[in-house]
Amino acid sequence: MNLSLAKKTALLAAALAAASGASAAGKLEIFSWWSGDEGPALEALIKLYRQKYPAVAVDNATVSGGAGTNAKAVLKTRMLGGTPPDSFQVHAGQELIGTWVVANRMEDLSGLFRTEGWSKVYPKDLVTLLSSKGGIWSVPVNVHRSNVMWYNPAKLRAWGVTPPKTWNEFLTTCAALKRKGVAAPLVMGENWTQQHLWESVMIGTLGAQGWQDLWSGKTKFTDPKVVQGFTTFGRVLDCANKDASGLSWQQASDRIVDGTSAFNIMGDWAAGYFTTTKKLRPSTGFGWAASPGTSGTFVMLADSFGLPKGAKNRAEALNWLRVLGSKAGQDAFNPLKGSIAARTDSDLSKYSTYSKSAAADWRKNRIVGSMVHGAVAPESFMSAFGAVVDQFVASRNAQAAANAAGQLATRSGIGR
Ligand code: GAL
Repeated sequence: MNLSLAKKTALLAAALAAASGASAAGKLEIFSWWSGDEGPALEALIKLYRQKYPAVAVDNATVSGGAGTNAKAVLKTRMLGGTPPDSFQVHAGQELIGTWVVANRMEDLSGLFRTEGWSKVYPKDLVTLLSSKGGIWSVPVNVHRSNVMWYNPAKLRAWGVTPPKTWNEFLTTCAALKRKGVAAPLVMGENWTQQHLWESVMIGTLGAQGWQDLWSGKTKFTDPKVVQGFTTFGRVLDCANKDASGLSWQQASDRIVDGTSAFNIMGDWAAGYFTTTKKLRPSTGFGWAASPGTSGTFVMLADSFGLPKGAKNRAEALNWLRVLGSKAGQDAFNPLKGSIAARTDSDLSKYSTYSKSAAADWRKNRIVGSMVHGAVAPESFMSAFGAVVDQFVASRNAQAAANAAGQLATRSGIGR
């Protein structure tokens, strides 16, 4: 028999994996929305998995669409139809707990956290976010920051403006840029990116504590401060491009790169896009600051993967979770993704200067959760809030929007 060297190596690796107790063959289907430009970080993680489990055929199933807008709908059909993927991407927090955990469709991963020693390497608050009913329901692969304002340093210099620190300053800068002929000083994209902008404007208006009080029910959506937040949001929208609904988040980011617009409020997957896809250098190719009014606050979200009950390839899925929760896994994934590791022991020398600054802020800032990306609000609120924003974009009626959000909060049981 004349085997090629590659084949011999694969066989040897499979034999070693089998000897170490790892699954030697099988399949694994991973489900996420990380396709195309969002794909490289996930592919790096899968590469690592394949090195450890070379005989497993990995099906990297993706449904494209930023923030999982399309993927979540497909996942729902599959979960309800009894054909769950072996492991799927989901935001840490309410997005999973309020849906598939309460519906009793997920396996409790506390045992895995124990055997892997993860309770010691993940921040306590993050584990709390993943926990309910005495269980831990998913494994976080990263921490992303939502409240970041991106810009093109050379263009800001040419226009003679600096990154605004408050929303009032932002509006003044916006007027100055318009006078210089910049038609849309702010770029935004499709509906979820508008909600993302809303989140930053609201936190910049209410402050970190005010934001938390909104989700605990202590502050009502009809509070004058929330109405004020919507009013400011409307004025900020006046600075934005008119073709937003047709743009993906990447296309919106492109307008910063090409200098069409001055600012974009987006999560730090934009840093991954700038460095990994666009090959830009942090600080020179792209610049960043906390979104106006939020300096000292880190609005977090975490991507995680869970194990649905009835997964066809359970053993392979558990090994997948082991890889993505490992230090090597997180340090392969996150430098490409723009996020920082969820683990506290990651090797920061592998990360960009942007990510190093995010890691420093993660340690010293006040941490609050993102609504748009699943951390703080029940799914019933999240999935209906897009319509409130759409209506507000059309009507600009701040009081009506606050009332509608308030009704949604009541129906979703916020504060109950
Ligand atoms: C977020 C997700 C990020 C990134 C982004 C854009 O919801 O947490 O990892 O994928 O959407 O699609």
